[in-house]
Amino acid sequence: MNTQQLKTMLEEMWIDYLALNPDALAIHQLIKERNPHVVNDHIALRTFNLGKVDLKQISRPFINAGYHARGEYSFPKKHLYAQHFEHNDPNLPKIFISQLLTENLDQSNQKLIHNLIEQIPKEILTTKHFSYSGRHWNLTYKQYQQLLKQSEYAAWLAAFGFRPNHFTILINALHSHHRIETLNQFLKEHGYALNSAGGEIKGSAEEYLEQSSTLANKVMLSFDDQEAEIPGCYYEFAKRYPLPEGGLYQGFIAASADKIFESTDSR
Ligand code: NI
Repeated sequence: MNTQQLKTMLEEMWIDYLALNPDALAIHQLIKERNPHVVNDHIALRTFNLGKVDLKQISRPFINAGYHARGEYSFPKKHLYAQHFEHNDPNLPKIFISQLLTENLDQSNQKLIHNLIEQIPKEILTTKHFSYSGRHWNLTYKQYQQLLKQSEYAAWLAAFGFRPNHFTILINALHSHHRIETLNQFLKEHGYALNSAGGEIKGSAEEYLEQSSTLANKVMLSFDDQEAEIPGCYYEFAKRYPLPEGGLYQGFIAASADKIFESTDSR
């Protein structure tokens, strides 16, 4: 895949993401009115650790487009494992891909998830847009709720399928706001609720990364048995700090990401 094709793919992901998260477009416009450039730090994707759709499969088109695996992260309490990928062109967003360790869920949920994956048409698996191709299975609201009891992440993924979970504004590139505190304040003044699990600001300058995020937009979704309003996608904000050896820290902090995952929790 060449750079132009990659940029088209990232643009298609942004459009798909906005469909579930109208707040992100409004926030992006608010920020864009005040800044010459709005830089996307990273895109987050979610999947199950099952052969056909695991992290390795999801990352393949990005690797083919010039991305390289960098950091890896474990979230034992949420039964997740993640990797982040960077492109040689620092202007391109990092890709953060997490996968659910399906075998850690109880038998009935494992069976349910395996059944969802079996319904995915073979042809779609190898397409380069698989990671934002949506849901390829039937799902009842009852099944959604069954998953929700054990894993918010599994329920979100079962409901929405393969789609970007969030995009991220890089605060370092803004002229209007230099501190995450003032950006958070600005967003709240404009009526956006922030995820306060573990405090509004996750991480610290000492850890070279501060992050905050909106609470996910509620989305009316059609299940097989009924419609229901559930949390969709959120917008994230990241401030990166320079490392002693030079350059901005480009990784992620597992403890912070752990709390950021909760932006899609149904409460
Ligand atoms: Ni993120």
